[in-house]
Amino acid sequence: MKNNNDYDLPSKILHLSFALLFVISFSIGKFVDDDSKIYAFHMLSGILMGIVLILRILWGIFGAKKARFSNFNLSLNELKTYLKRVLSGEKISDFHRNPASSLVTLGLYGVAAMMIFSGGLVVLGGPHFFEELHEVLSLLFLVLVLIHLSGVVVHQYQNRDQTVLNIFKLSKDYFIIAMVFIITISSAGGYLFQNYNQTTQELNILNQKILLGEKDKGQKYDYDEEDEDDD
Ligand code: HEM
Repeated sequence: MKNNNDYDLPSKILHLSFALLFVISFSIGKFVDDDSKIYAFHMLSGILMGIVLILRILWGIFGAKKARFSNFNLSLNELKTYLKRVLSGEKISDFHRNPASSLVTLGLYGVAAMMIFSGGLVVLGGPHFFEELHEVLSLLFLVLVLIHLSGVVVHQYQNRDQTVLNIFKLSKDYFIIAMVFIITISSAGGYLFQNYNQTTQELNILNQKILLGEKDKGQKYDYDEEDEDDD
């Protein structure tokens, strides 16, 4: 029987993809030198995160009832009551649409959208301001992830139920849509990977070349020159 804490399969797939891509993007962004060839994978996984986010937005509008944004609980009064109950150590069984996770979820998606957008502008050569903004947003996102993970740990400690673990359990609901999501995400990943040239560090999307690596000082975009030579 379906219990109140079950998440639908498409949401589980999107959660796992989003979390993994965040870990990849964030750790490369933080720990890898931006001169390194690996650094481009920070951008590639960021673009893929954007695709996962678009799927989640579509799923939040047209998807399973529980996953819809209209089903989120954004009442501040309920948030206060909920937090009081958590602090008093009370067991809370209705976790899925609780006000705290609704708020953090919207925060995570909102900040992710701005983070991906500002990152895109940095790659496309936008003003330096966007680089600063992108960094601030990535730290804000990290703070939200830590709040999310603390919520998960506190819930598990207080309730000791299956709610948290359910997010990683395979189920068969909305199977076809979940497959469509998996195929979309893996095809987009494959497309990005195939169209990224590690030697020139250029990504070719729909015949537009985008430089993902650092440009050497004094070096102009080679492809611009090649194009001019061709003329
Ligand atoms: C061991 C690690 C993790 C566990 C156990 C976990 C668990 C969960 C659970 C149980 C929910 C459902 C909460 C609810 O709907 O009320 C959830 C939602 C969510 N988690 Fe995680 N999570 C983990 C890691 C992460 C990471 C690293 C991210 C960072 C991107 C993340 C992002 C999200 C987002 C965005 C949602 C909202 C899902 C949605 O409704 O669309 N999670 N997580």
